[in-house]
Amino acid sequence: MRGRFKSWAKPLLEAHPEYVIFNEQDSFLKEAKECEIGAGKGDFAIGMAKKGHCLVALERDISCAGLFLKKLLQEEEKLALKILPLDFDKCVSYFHEGQFQIIYLNFSDPWPKKKHEKRRLLYPPRLKEIGKFLAPDGEVRFKTDNDSLFEYGLKAIPLAGFSFLKVEEDYSLEESDVMSEYERNFRAEGKKIHRIVFQKEGQ
Ligand SMILES: C[S@@+](CC[C@H](N)C(=O)[O-])C[C@H]1O[C@@H](n2cnc3c(N)ncnc32)[C@H](O)[C@@H]1O
Repeated sequence: MRGRFKSWAKPLLEAHPEYVIFNEQDSFLKEAKECEIGAGKGDFAIGMAKKGHCLVALERDISCAGLFLKKLLQEEEKLALKILPLDFDKCVSYFHEGQFQIIYLNFSDPWPKKKHEKRRLLYPPRLKEIGKFLAPDGEVRFKTDNDSLFEYGLKAIPLAGFSFLKVEEDYSLEESDVMSEYERNFRAEGKKIHRIVFQKEGQ
């Protein structure tokens, strides 16, 4: 999600340590049981926090993270949610092994060209890294509108040492789930949403 650069975003993020993580010592990292990687403007993470979930939301695009924070600041109640404005590859030292019960990958960038495969969040070596932070009985929930990325996931996920819990080609939103901005837009266009839920092999 690359929008126009927002020069106000970085200072705004820096002014709100109650909602933004700046270093590995942040005590919220010990509380959070769930993580969204690639949170965009935060609709999903805010919706889940309002349902009582406690989560860290990673977003590497600073302008996007700024827009996310603006929305978060409009909420009347203080939510159990913090933004980590970094790329997943740069924040592995922020997490400890097995810390998350659920990791959400919502409408991850598809990087359709083969030469860009390594940039995909589902690229098996990266997915293995992501898996290190998943609790033994935890699960990863991946949603996409993109047929090729869905097909790629069906191959990449077992290669990274996971097994499928659910593979839904035409996913209907569960009561407990929340739509992200992309999901809302794609559903409005009549697109099918694909979902794969997976866990570490041998669970
Ligand atoms: C296509 S957008 C989807 C946003 C949101 N999840 C939604 O469904 O509305 C993907 C987002 O993931 C972010 N992103 C991609 N790779 C990332 C990474 N390795 N670490 C953190 N954020 C990432 C991008 O900056 C972008 O905002």
